[in-house]
Amino acid sequence: MGHRLVLTSFGESHGGCVGALLTGCPAGLEISESDIQPMLDKRRPGQSSITTQRKETDRVEILTGTYRGKTTGAPIAMTIRNSDQRSSDYDDLKHVPRPGHSDYPAGIRYGGHNDPRGGGIFSGRLTATQVMAGAIARKLLDRCMGIRIASYTVSIGGVDAHIDGMPSEDSIYGNDVRCPDTEAAADMRDEIVRARGSGDTLGGTIQSVALGVPPGLGEPIYNSLESDLAAAAFSIPSVKGVEFGSGFAGARSRGSTNNDPYTIQDGTVRTTSNNSGGILGGLSTGMDVTMRVAFKPASSIAISQRSVDTRTMSGTTLRVRGRHDPCVVPRAPPVVDAMMAMVMADHAILLGMIGPVIL
Ligand SMILES: Cc1cc2nc3c(=O)[nH]c(=O)nc-3n(C[C@H](O)[C@H](O)[C@H](O)COP(=O)(O)O)c2cc1C
Repeated sequence: MGHRLVLTSFGESHGGCVGALLTGCPAGLEISESDIQPMLDKRRPGQSSITTQRKETDRVEILTGTYRGKTTGAPIAMTIRNSDQRSSDYDDLKHVPRPGHSDYPAGIRYGGHNDPRGGGIFSGRLTATQVMAGAIARKLLDRCMGIRIASYTVSIGGVDAHIDGMPSEDSIYGNDVRCPDTEAAADMRDEIVRARGSGDTLGGTIQSVALGVPPGLGEPIYNSLESDLAAAAFSIPSVKGVEFGSGFAGARSRGSTNNDPYTIQDGTVRTTSNNSGGILGGLSTGMDVTMRVAFKPASSIAISQRSVDTRTMSGTTLRVRGRHDPCVVPRAPPVVDAMMAMVMADHAILLGMIGPVIL
């Protein structure tokens, strides 16, 4: 992904490692593993009883692209080794595809040569590679433009959070569903525990906000900020919906209520509401860029479902074994954060707002 700041993700869930190759990062940015590890730790599985019990240490190693603690301008390669795989859990899935997962179309697309273990390249594990690159993009934005990003859970199952303003990192990561509304967070947790108890899974929504984005960032028509953000969000497995500002609710309102009236605040043009989500014409308005991303319930459920056996071309049933997330949402805020940061940093580099050398 990316125009100038380009990310290539590689690896499989049960292969040797997963990794990120990031090209186009300016020289001179102070970067070490300690900038990346905290974001990876927030995504890591096995941290609480409401995520998969697969235990990965997810220790990032920067292999290339830095010298004396700073980026050199050369490609940055980063990896984490895979461990704690139980590949036998996936033996059946080569011929009996999981409803709702990528098994069937992937088998067709790669003529059966794809690695099915742990979902192969379609695994949520690949989102670790997005987080690695995103941590660098985040630092670039903070260091060069003062842009800060926060992503947090706003709904899980039937529970909605009520959040005013930009929540702090502590309030987001202070509970295991990553929701700054502590009352809603407790209900969300209960709902996940109930769903898991019946062998089922839940979906939810994550909101991502970029604060301090100057007006005019982006491109018109194609490669607009919205289209690049949406493409980046849809690259996260399980994401089935994206909206900006008032989004789908805006489609049911009127221009008179959906428009954001202009005003002057401290000598700067601002709007009194932000139904546009901080983007008009594919360009940032100077208000907070606000995106919401909808995650479906994870498909691997411990309830018997109808499937087919592609060897005999007959119907069968499947009850998915193995360690799976009862809800992927609590692990995804760092991933959505990363995608927001990558797109913002890429556009800033494209427009020369972040130069090739950081002074
Ligand atoms: C952090 C994360 C963890 C995930 N864990 C699981 C899981 O344990 N079980 C599962 O079936 N899907 C899991 N997924 C989702 C699948 O990878 C995804 O549904 C699958 O690749 C099909 O793609 P699609 O849902 O985007 O169409 C996870 C996704 C993310 C972002």
